[in-house]
Amino acid sequence: MPVLQPPDPQPRLPARFAGETTVAGGTARARAKDQSQALAQDADATPWLGLLPPLGAALYPLPLAVFHAHVEAARAGGILDTAIATASLSVAFLIPLLALLAVARLLRGTPVTTGQLRARRVALLAVSAPACFVVVGVFSYVAGVSDWDRWLLAVFWASMAVYVARGDRARPLAPTAAGTIPGWLPRAHGAAALAFILMFLAWHLGNHLLGLLGDELHRSVMHTLRHVYRSPWVEPVVLGLGAFLVVSGLTLAWRASRRQGDFLRALQLSAGVYLAVALPSHVNSVLYFARSFLRIESDWDFAVGAPTGLIGDPWNIRLVPYYALAVAAVITHAFCGLRMVLVAHGVSDTTGRRLVAAGTGLAVVVATAIMFGMCGLRL
Ligand code: HEM
Repeated sequence: MPVLQPPDPQPRLPARFAGETTVAGGTARARAKDQSQALAQDADATPWLGLLPPLGAALYPLPLAVFHAHVEAARAGGILDTAIATASLSVAFLIPLLALLAVARLLRGTPVTTGQLRARRVALLAVSAPACFVVVGVFSYVAGVSDWDRWLLAVFWASMAVYVARGDRARPLAPTAAGTIPGWLPRAHGAAALAFILMFLAWHLGNHLLGLLGDELHRSVMHTLRHVYRSPWVEPVVLGLGAFLVVSGLTLAWRASRRQGDFLRALQLSAGVYLAVALPSHVNSVLYFARSFLRIESDWDFAVGAPTGLIGDPWNIRLVPYYALAVAAVITHAFCGLRMVLVAHGVSDTTGRRLVAAGTGLAVVVATAIMFGMCGLRL
């Protein structure tokens, strides 16, 4: 495999926010070139890696089907069924997490070919496999072809794998400004995120946590909160902020995917792309699917798939990883953004990394607590 030169006249170095530092001076430039060549070799060393995330995403519905096949016997006390159900649900969570690891590995090299760039972007999308399964599940249900969902997904992810496999790994990317991020865009994205969290999301997730104390409490708090977030002044602003976050976030991720990045960058991009699929899917489920199509209340019973519940229903089980990862992604993504702001204002890199580790821990705790509440645990 030939070692390809990056098209940038001034190759970018892995930096604190990788790809955002250019190097001045002849010696530094030569060192940067050597480093870029090493990174290019590194990226090319794993041509098969880009195929794994879409193939994993194509298989994603399978462990959920296995879970459903064993969960009733597990509830009746079968030890082997309990082991199989636990293992298969764990695999469903592992598939997007392994896609995240693939993103982290793929971001390590400088994207010097279109093939490498395709692999990164498809891997990022594959992290959102649980959300894609819900989107396609809802649309195929509405279209009256509910059973087609896993086949439609299999065809989609297989074509993504073919798209990656056919990527040109010999042709360097044309020099372009496509990887440049205008300074106002991350600032506007961050400000919109802060407004969205304060106006709606913190209350919304807090309300879901109350499910642990009883669905009646959740219901009554939701009715109170609705006076605010469903009011004609607030709801369009919340939905507008959500739409702006999705569009600006996808623009940022699209551009940032051309750059080299570390694990925290992979975490931030993966969580962001997950939310960009999950948020429109969730709003569509609430505003259109529940309220207009099914003509039911978009309340606790709708969220937990009553009367069958999340665990015992072959369709609803897909909501467990989907909701859990949405909550974990939104908290983790917010902490990754906070880290960037703090480091830009002089906070040390180590403190920034510790903050993201703490934020990710918090995300896992909150997501787990909400899901246990939604699955019936009461404190
Ligand atoms: C366990 C996780 C979640 C569950 C079970 C859940 C459930 C719900 C339910 C039942 C509603 C309807 C509320 C109503 O009718 O008043 C709703 C609305 C909404 N949710 Fe969530 N949600 C979750 C997480 C999230 C996350 C992480 C986000 C954002 C990233 C989000 C954004 C929204 C938005 C924007 C609305 C529409 C509010 C409106 O204008 O009516 N949700 N959610």
